[in-house]
Amino acid sequence: MTDADKNEMIVTPWEVKGKIDYERLIREFGTQPLTEELLKKLEKHTGELHLQIRRGLFFSHRDLDTVLDLYEKGTKFVLYTGRGPSGPVHIGHLVPWILTKHLQDKFNTRLYFQITDDEKFLVDDENKLADMTRYGYENALDLIALGYKPEDTFIIYDTKDIDLLYDIALEVAKRITYSTARATFGFQESTNLGWVFWPAVQAAPCFIHRKLTGENVPALIPAAIDQDPFWRITRDIAQKLGYHKPAQIHCRFLPGLGQGGKMSASEPETSIFTIDPPDVVKHKIWNAFTGGKGTAAEQKKTGADPSICTIYQYFTYLFEEDDEKLAERESRCKAGEILCGECKKDLVVRINKFLAEHQKKREKAKDTLEKFHIKR
Ligand code: TYM
Repeated sequence: MTDADKNEMIVTPWEVKGKIDYERLIREFGTQPLTEELLKKLEKHTGELHLQIRRGLFFSHRDLDTVLDLYEKGTKFVLYTGRGPSGPVHIGHLVPWILTKHLQDKFNTRLYFQITDDEKFLVDDENKLADMTRYGYENALDLIALGYKPEDTFIIYDTKDIDLLYDIALEVAKRITYSTARATFGFQESTNLGWVFWPAVQAAPCFIHRKLTGENVPALIPAAIDQDPFWRITRDIAQKLGYHKPAQIHCRFLPGLGQGGKMSASEPETSIFTIDPPDVVKHKIWNAFTGGKGTAAEQKKTGADPSICTIYQYFTYLFEEDDEKLAERESRCKAGEILCGECKKDLVVRINKFLAEHQKKREKAKDTLEKFHIKR
């Protein structure tokens, strides 16, 4: 395999590989960049823009402008996002859930959260359904630990709650041809039948609010860009079924701790899981790829490169809220005034502080889990 093959970009809901070119994804997926003008519109409702938006972690959208226009005219929206429970949650998964919480607080709106144990069972021969279902409940604790309120948060566990989704999924599935699904998702002759139908199940929560309340309002979906193919096919048929097209706001991938690539549960050594103990976090961060030089002497002389450094990106996207302090870290790094060991040490402290709190809240969430289960 040549280096060019290794770097070839693949972004699907089930595989992310190679060097990710986000501009190219906007063009190829046909999404829109988040413009200054749109961000100003958002800011009118949220006050200061959330760190993840201000710093460009969220970079693209579909119909966010339409949703805000409707909101200004008095039509609310609901939020929708989810998790495919194939193992423990890592801090990359938390990224869209953190922004979703911010939007829920600012717009005072409902969240539907889908846990797709069925998806994870179907897409991997090795996965057992009972294990995926069990991870689903485990992963829900991570969502709740972020501070969501049960009154406004409706968790849908697919295999348990399929009765709520099935009629909507059928309406969706009937209007999407196999050839569209194959072109969108890359299905093969060998793809199992469950998987081919499955995208209709991820589409269903976009429309569930009307069924539960009678209100026909759009859904806004914060998620990483890998989930976009689902929304492309759902948007095509939404209006035929009398619904608003679901809108999206897309984030980049939080990188793993290695060189290149997203944080991915299939590479545990370069992922920080929310259940990792402090010494494991320390070990992983200590081995992380940075923009540092071969020797301390060289780095002091010529400086390092924060633009390729995983540690710096974690500060940027999650662990340094103060813009001035972040800028100071960047300039000191470039000037060779701070070495990688110091940044790593600081990051270990921040992550472990965050995880200690998160793990406590996650334990407490066990008592309230049932309150978040979607009400019928
Ligand atoms: P899943 O479990 O693969 O991922 C959960 C959410 O995390 C996002 N994500 C990331 N975001 C930032 N950095 C990363 N490294 C990273 N890795 C994953 C995903 O985009 C996703 O938003 N099929 C879905 C479950 C689902 C869903 C939804 C997701 C059902 N309905 C609606 C989003 C919106 C899945 O397997 O997600």
